[in-house]
Amino acid sequence: MQNKQRLKSEEYEEYKSGDIAHAPGSLASGSSSICTSIEPARHVPDIAEDVRAGLLSAPRSLPPKYFYDERGSRLFEQICTTPEYYPTRTEEKLLSHYSEEIINQVKPEEIIEFGSGNAQKTRLLFDACERSDHTCSYAPFDVCEPMLETVSEQLQSDYHWLDVKPLLGDYRAGLDHLPKTHGTRLYVFLGGTIGNFYPEEAQEFIKEIKDSMQAGDYLLLGADRVKDNHLLDAAYNDEQGITAEFNLNVLNVLNRELKADFNPENFEHQAEFNSVRNRIEMHLVCIRDHIVHMQQLDEIITFQKGESILTEVSHKFTFDGLENLLVESGLHICKHYEPENKYFSLILASCPE
Ligand SMILES: C[S@@+](CC[C@H](N)C(=O)[O-])C[C@H]1O[C@@H](n2cnc3c(N)ncnc32)[C@H](O)[C@@H]1O
Repeated sequence: MQNKQRLKSEEYEEYKSGDIAHAPGSLASGSSSICTSIEPARHVPDIAEDVRAGLLSAPRSLPPKYFYDERGSRLFEQICTTPEYYPTRTEEKLLSHYSEEIINQVKPEEIIEFGSGNAQKTRLLFDACERSDHTCSYAPFDVCEPMLETVSEQLQSDYHWLDVKPLLGDYRAGLDHLPKTHGTRLYVFLGGTIGNFYPEEAQEFIKEIKDSMQAGDYLLLGADRVKDNHLLDAAYNDEQGITAEFNLNVLNVLNRELKADFNPENFEHQAEFNSVRNRIEMHLVCIRDHIVHMQQLDEIITFQKGESILTEVSHKFTFDGLENLLVESGLHICKHYEPENKYFSLILASCPE
């Protein structure tokens, strides 16, 4: 991604209007990628900077985006199908009930989705478009290029009317260089991924979305709710051990990207609900003393048995907490959908005049 040319929004406009043949940074650069790289609006640390800042001193931590290499993305897809992982099923049910209502209210010219992953649930919005005889474009925005490519090709072939324009980048790097559109845009952020932000960051991110919206645009946000600790613990500790594999896979990413020699067998997955901070905290716990060389950084880390790396937080929200998050950013709540068991929220909010 770093080696590719970055696409500025003006260039994207030319590309969309046909003034230039190919999206700069994708086909024109000689790359066969169908994705358009989004230029960061501000500096975000690269993996070397993140690892220096997060692993070389205690408490050790890593940003969650490094989970999502191709294997990590596939493992996340599998997590979504485990019996314990209620968020995907619950959000999917809400979407299957309300997608048509949402599409008819918003009538989007474009759907842009942050952290789109396999876009499986987003298909329910496209199905609703078909039933309502509505067409639009779709811009999935994700950090995982192989997933974006595969999903975009599948969607393009399954929905011939849908104009799919995959965007590759880090949504934490700012939204100033997102391509512009003329009509109504529906911003989508599903899967409870907003919970991976710390509270102040979540507020800032929603405000950034609001600031990139035009009056009359909408945001559809899916977020996980506070609930019984046992259900939460089970969701992040599935019996098949897929979440554990997903968590441990980040060490393979570090090995590959930084020429490191983490031995994943020296670490164990741990996920627990912290009821004071209302969040799942996912760790990799070192189970035997371990020295790791990171050639690319020219650094050595000594892990003692019992030490851990915080790899993800997943905040759980209350009904009011979620509404405040949106209202504080200047959005207007149009609909707040929740199932009878109140496990998950799906909120449609609009950007006022
Ligand atoms: C928890 S998964 C959710 C996937 C999908 N939206 C769903 O609901 O099943 C998070 C997604 O966000 C992407 N992602 C994580 N951090 C990101 C970042 N900083 N910028 C862009 N995408 C990111 C991951 O690649 C992954 O596809």
